[in-house]
Amino acid sequence: MFAGFLEVGLIRRARKKTLFEVRVHNLRDYARGKHRQVDDRPFGGDEGMVFMPEPVFAAVEAVRESPRTPVYLLSPQGRRFSPALAAELAAQPQVILICGRYEGVDERVVQHLVQDEISIGDYVLSGGELAAAVVIDAIGRLQEGALNDSESANQDSFEDGLLDCPHYTRSDSLGTDGVPPVLLSGDHAAIKRWRRQQSLGRTWLRRPDLLERLELSPEDQKLLSAFRAALPPDPNKPEKP
Ligand code: ADE
Repeated sequence: MFAGFLEVGLIRRARKKTLFEVRVHNLRDYARGKHRQVDDRPFGGDEGMVFMPEPVFAAVEAVRESPRTPVYLLSPQGRRFSPALAAELAAQPQVILICGRYEGVDERVVQHLVQDEISIGDYVLSGGELAAAVVIDAIGRLQEGALNDSESANQDSFEDGLLDCPHYTRSDSLGTDGVPPVLLSGDHAAIKRWRRQQSLGRTWLRRPDLLERLELSPEDQKLLSAFRAALPPDPNKPEKP
């Protein structure tokens, strides 16, 4: 499950430059007994299986480079993954991510081994691996030297807590139809203003929760007011008498 994204684009480059390293471990390698069993039925009887604590403790013990290495469990019960948490993890010399499967992991792993549980969103995946891949990708991008120049420039527009503006490029079949004229004007200051306004406007339309956390400058407020004023009237909103 990890082979694909580790071999593509920015993450591949960062690994090749040894800016960061990803090691994937199979829990079964740390299980004892002939069958190398890692899961069992839960006490109290319930549907499904639960990861047994021993293989998880043994695996963490084997791969941990320092007692200070934080251990996280990917689970829908976790703290929501965020840019702040990504930055926190990216700053660590080593991070261990445990991927749950089945119905979960013996709670004593959570109590005694895990620093925190991390959820990537309010939906249930069939395992923690894809969630871990999301976390690894986000950590990889934040390594010093991972982004090339154009990626860094683009990143800035996300770092400020706003959604990205729309992008257009050459199209043989569509020509410049539907492309905002300002983008063809060559006026770089006007283009920069337009992009900022689109970012503000889209964030206001789609993610007002993000906007509430920001303190907008007077210029930003003006750009947003103009964006709102230029919107077509909302058909669901009754006209004021
Ligand atoms: N495992 C299953 N669902 C998950 C989610 N939403 N986030 C993190 N880990 C998970």
